[in-house]
Amino acid sequence: YTREEVARHRTPGERVWVTHGTEVFDVTDFVELHPGGPDKLLLAAGGPLEPFWALYAVHSQPHVLELLREYKVGELSPEDSSPPAGDAQDPFAGDPPRHPALRVNSLKPFNAEPPPELLTQSFLTPNELFFTRNHLPVPAVEPGSYRLRVEGPGGRSLSLSLAELRGRFPKHEVTATLQCAGNRRSEMSRVRPVKGLPWDIGAIGTARWGGARLRDVLLHAGFGDDPPGDGEWHVCFEGLDVDASGTPYGASIPFRRAVSAEAEVLLAYEMNGQELPRDHGFPVRVVVPGVVGARSVKWLRSVAVSPSESPSHWQQNDYKGFCPSVDWDSVDFRAAPAIQELPVQSAITEPRPGAAVPAGELTVKGYAWSGGGREVIRVRGGKGRGQGGEGGMGGEREGNWWEKWRGRGWAWALWELRAPVAPGARLELLCKAVDSSYNVQPDSAAPIWNLRGVLSNAWHRVPVTV
Ligand code: MTE
Repeated sequence: YTREEVARHRTPGERVWVTHGTEVFDVTDFVELHPGGPDKLLLAAGGPLEPFWALYAVHSQPHVLELLREYKVGELSPEDSSPPAGDAQDPFAGDPPRHPALRVNSLKPFNAEPPPELLTQSFLTPNELFFTRNHLPVPAVEPGSYRLRVEGPGGRSLSLSLAELRGRFPKHEVTATLQCAGNRRSEMSRVRPVKGLPWDIGAIGTARWGGARLRDVLLHAGFGDDPPGDGEWHVCFEGLDVDASGTPYGASIPFRRAVSAEAEVLLAYEMNGQELPRDHGFPVRVVVPGVVGARSVKWLRSVAVSPSESPSHWQQNDYKGFCPSVDWDSVDFRAAPAIQELPVQSAITEPRPGAAVPAGELTVKGYAWSGGGREVIRVRGGKGRGQGGEGGMGGEREGNWWEKWRGRGWAWALWELRAPVAPGARLELLCKAVDSSYNVQPDSAAPIWNLRGVLSNAWHRVPVTV
């Protein structure tokens, strides 16, 4: 069989085929028996099993391969057993390989999110499944010749190799959630069309980031706790990814956040204990906990202390919020501040909208998070008017647990609740979170609609039938 033929078998109706090595299997009859659930197996339908098995180690046991062998229907044709070669003219030809489970919102540049039901499988999002938000082709960086420039007024400048960044500054680790400003944009565009990629609920993920504190590097370059001049100063970042005119991706954060020990801003070279993957900024990226993902510049080439914000398009003319009456004729990007800390957010990852769920006890899963280090203190779920469910959030939540994280709740809470559901019912499941400043999510998207579809954080609503 060719890979194209295998790819046509993605549903039980068309039969479910997968490959392993060069072998082809028809696993339709195994779908319902899959211990991880039929939906998880169907994510691999029509393609190779290896990328999924690599994530979920239970599969690397001899009896799993033996079981699979029962379903073998053939072999891949020899000319189709290696992936197609890239095109030398294409600026994206050097982009890295990606996990097939990712839902692609745009291929070039690459923008993709994991399926919601995999997002809350684990507290730390596996690197392969972490959403990717690229504006430009992924730069190819040779780690041996990589240099990071640090500069500012008064001749305070530094140039650091990767070895120096790793060797001269203590390694600091932070578990932090990154969320794109456009997460859940597709719900906002159902109110009225917006400009932007149609992200579902997966433009968010959590990792344990490791690297040098930006504070330590700035102090080493000669900066102090106070900005070098009057007023609010900024720290501007540039990436090695450039557009056709040679202009790099760039963004900035306020100087005070950059030098604050509590803010824990990192120049990260590790993600979940591994070196940064290429899509996530290899070899060094900024991670600004509690702040919109756009400021966590990947493939970092320079850090500059400046009296003004980054002049980059993405700081000045994008990633800003407006009220619903502002349209593309009236918008003035200078009239709104750049998004930094994000508002409180939550979403249901299981079940999926439109699902038919069995009667009895229904388990609902999701995530909740807020910007600025404001820990989520409560998540409420409901199934229509006045019918709440019982549940709780993971983690060590005992006594006055919130003291432990006050102001540094960088990571999401995964939550789960159970509620009885009666046969035949049509329900709208919903969830809403409250953060430690008692900020709450708005109940609907219309009042927070904006032309770019950013900051979409209304109660998440999921219709299901029982
Ligand atoms: N940095 C560079 N150099 N280029 C980019 O396109 N995208 C930004 C930010 N940093 C971007 C970047 C945006 S909008 C987001 S949401 C995050 O990276 C996404 O990080 P991730 O792709 O690792 O999830």
